[in-house]
Amino acid sequence: MRNKLWAAFVAIAIGFSGVAFAADGGKIFKSKCSACHGPTGGGTPMAPALKGNDFVKNGSMDEIKSVILNGREGSAKKYPKFPIGMPKQSLSDDEVKAVIDYIKSL
Ligand code: HEC
Repeated sequence: MRNKLWAAFVAIAIGFSGVAFAADGGKIFKSKCSACHGPTGGGTPMAPALKGNDFVKNGSMDEIKSVILNGREGSAKKYPKFPIGMPKQSLSDDEVKAVIDYIKSL
C-alpha cells in the first residue's frame, strides 16, 4: 500500500513538473519577440511580420532556428527597410522549438 501511494505521488509529481517545465512558445514570444515583431506577430516599423511570413511558413526548423539564435545583422540583413537587425537570442533548444511552433501557428 505504501509503495503504491508513493508510486502515485511520484507519477503526479512528474506529471506536474512536465507541465511546469515545458517551454511555452506563446509566453516566450510575448516576453522576447513581441516588442519588435508586434504583440500578435503582425510586425512593427522595427521588424517584419512573422504572421503569414513565407520564411516562417516554409522555412525548416533549422533555418528558422539559425536566424533566431544567430540573429541577422549587418550584411546578413534581408530587409533594408527595417532600421535595425535581428539581435541574436539566447534560448534553450526547447525554447527555440516552442517559439518556432508558435510563430508557425500564427
Ligand atoms: C530588437 C528587435 C527584435 C527582437 C527582440 C526580435 N527580432 Fe526577429 N527580427 C528583427 C528584425 C529587424 C528582423 C529582420 C532582419 C533582416 O533585415 O533580415 C527580424 C527577423 C526575424 C526572422 C526572419 C524573418 C524573415 O522574413 O526572414 C525571424 C524568424 C525572427 N526575426 C524571429 C524572432 C523571434 C522568434 C524572436 C524572439 C525570440 C525575435 N525575432 C526577436 C528584430 C527583432
